[in-house]
Amino acid sequence: MDKWILTSEKIDWKKMKKRESIWTQGNGYMGIRASFEEGYTGSARNTLINGLFDCPKEEVAELAVLPDATNCEISFNGETFNMICGIVENFRTSLNMRTGEFTRTLDWTSPKGKKFSIVFSRMVSDARKHVMAQRVWITPLSEDVEVCLVTGIDGKITNTGVQHFGNPEKRAYKDGIKGMYLTTLQSQVDVAIHYTLKFNKECTERITIDRRSVYSEVRTTVGKNDTFTMEKLVSYATERDFEYADFEYSDEVLRNDGKAYLNEVIELGYDGLLKESARSWSQFWQESLVDVNANDALIDGAIIFAQYHLHIMASRDDNRLGIGAKALSGEGYMGHSYWDTEIFILPYYLCTEPQVARRLLEYRYQLLPVAKNKAAKFGFQGAMYPWESTWITDGEGCIEYGDMDLLTGEKRRFTMGETEIHVTAGVAFAAWQYYCMTGDEEFMEKYGNELIIRTAIFWADRAEKRNGRYEILGVIGADEYKEDVDNNTYTNYMAHKNLVLAKNILDSNPERLLRKLEKEYNMKDVKMEISEVAENLYLPVAEEDGIIPQFDGCKSLKEKDITYYKNLDSVFDIFKDYGFAEILQMQVFKQADIVMLFYLMSDVFDEETVRKNFAYYEERTLHDSSLSMCIHALVAVRLGMKDMAEKLFYDCCCVDFGENTNNSDAGIHSASIGGIWLATVMGYGGLRITDNSLQLKPVLPDGWENYSFPVWYRGSKLKVLVDKNGCCVERVLGDAVTIVLNGKEILV
Ligand code: BGC
Repeated sequence: MDKWILTSEKIDWKKMKKRESIWTQGNGYMGIRASFEEGYTGSARNTLINGLFDCPKEEVAELAVLPDATNCEISFNGETFNMICGIVENFRTSLNMRTGEFTRTLDWTSPKGKKFSIVFSRMVSDARKHVMAQRVWITPLSEDVEVCLVTGIDGKITNTGVQHFGNPEKRAYKDGIKGMYLTTLQSQVDVAIHYTLKFNKECTERITIDRRSVYSEVRTTVGKNDTFTMEKLVSYATERDFEYADFEYSDEVLRNDGKAYLNEVIELGYDGLLKESARSWSQFWQESLVDVNANDALIDGAIIFAQYHLHIMASRDDNRLGIGAKALSGEGYMGHSYWDTEIFILPYYLCTEPQVARRLLEYRYQLLPVAKNKAAKFGFQGAMYPWESTWITDGEGCIEYGDMDLLTGEKRRFTMGETEIHVTAGVAFAAWQYYCMTGDEEFMEKYGNELIIRTAIFWADRAEKRNGRYEILGVIGADEYKEDVDNNTYTNYMAHKNLVLAKNILDSNPERLLRKLEKEYNMKDVKMEISEVAENLYLPVAEEDGIIPQFDGCKSLKEKDITYYKNLDSVFDIFKDYGFAEILQMQVFKQADIVMLFYLMSDVFDEETVRKNFAYYEERTLHDSSLSMCIHALVAVRLGMKDMAEKLFYDCCCVDFGENTNNSDAGIHSASIGGIWLATVMGYGGLRITDNSLQLKPVLPDGWENYSFPVWYRGSKLKVLVDKNGCCVERVLGDAVTIVLNGKEILV
């Protein structure tokens, strides 16, 4: 089996949605799910553009699903092709992660007994962000037939029923280009979609339209064993494109640009575009490949799969965009960004493509006004980041009420927006990690220092003086199965780090920044408050039994043996037996909380404490969040708990890449995908980022042949190779740098 190519030779209609998600194609600008060209029940035919949010009245902003251009209905002498009728043979579909191409090959015998060979292929250009292309090859095998293809732009789309676009304008131009122009209903963003068709033989093309769509109806007669080829080239452009960030936009410019993106590639056609795109992919793999040879197809493939998705989820140029919890692979989580980005995904970019990491942090910087408004709304100073972020001016994306409680039937109030405040410290932490890895002073001066200070101002205000110390009350920690808790250990430690970082920055007297902040604050007072809270913030420690309470009173909650639920393949099963209110009162956890700290702040806790707490909390954690397994795997590796690490690592690889679950239907889990990298490089590779060093302590898991990964550190690129002979660190680019390998400083 080739680890670079995902294949399927069976059609499992029940798994179609999952496959559509995990085989999503994209380039950081757009994402297109791998739906088949013809219609079938249950398909979630989504094309999403990064940053194209719309906010329906009385709801929160979500990524608007775009009109679909992947459709193509085929009929032969009036018989419509569909895999659910007739006989399908020699079926094979694949996603080539080396080149980004998605193909489907099959022989179809129609209900009337006529046989055809059909090949579909599709690509989203890695070299031209606005372009995608498709090709259909049709060969009649029984007799000459009249082939009719209907393909175009289908605007009859919604986000699970929610309309985001008004009536589109449709145009057909003399040069063969067809266009559709729409505007999002609330955010009022213009969108232009264009397509043009190319054929290998003479045919007629008739334009048809309906209220929301424009189609081409293509007819030709194809001889037995001859092949008819249609190529469809499509371009997308929106008013929010980075090209217009500092440019006077007009809808005429947008339409002309949209057409120009197509005109530039008509000559190239599908093959030329594929070649160009494959070259771009190849360059990416050459520069960034994390290569694992584990002698296990699932693990070897999962790391390529993870990197494939990491490559297509982040914008290559735009610093106004985050990464959604499902990236651009589905409607799940409405395209919103969470702490997932900074804590689970960003480390990959820090090590592999630091310029992308910087842009993601610049996005957070641009959200500062939103974060300041949010803090003010809840009566605090400083910057309080949205729990769920969308477009830079949209505000908090967290809904007020979630789905009903399955057991009680009552609607559940969501307090995450107000109380899941650790995201604020996570953003500051990530800005600092970026600095530690890159030494990018310019970033800190322009963005990082301000971000860290403004977030620290929030913490200093949010913490309350109680019991002769500062405490943080009424929060949801990293673990979402406990609400309204006091002194959540994860939150307090992260807030503390944020405060200490701010204190150090303020001690260094950043003059320009102080002048800016002085317009809003008395910086002398701010400095004092930050120092005072940093010094006196309560940081929970291990109690007599060696266990750190996840929050005040956590260990007196009811114990519950959850082995049964942990052994099930699916998640959230506990809710079939217990209501959320009951879970809140039990020592049952959804995901890593204290264990997160062992990953992020490895130098703060001694090994004995980590070991004891890992055992205690893992036993009580359901891993009902896809964010949980990877972190537990990483910590288990660091503790040398081989079997546990292996199992958790495997489970983490299976979240999207495994066979069994349907929980990827609404999109991949981008944090868990980042988590595969974390568990590999920061777990097995033992990579740690500390305030003043890059550390490596690699281990080779049993059965693995070798693995290698690139790391950018302070402007130099290193390649780390681990095999049975040990570890080799090679400097590929840049000046000599000092790192810590297995506890010893070395100059690379
Ligand atoms: C998790 C959060 C996560 C969110 C988005 C939730 O299920 O509990 O920690 O940020 O999903 O991935």
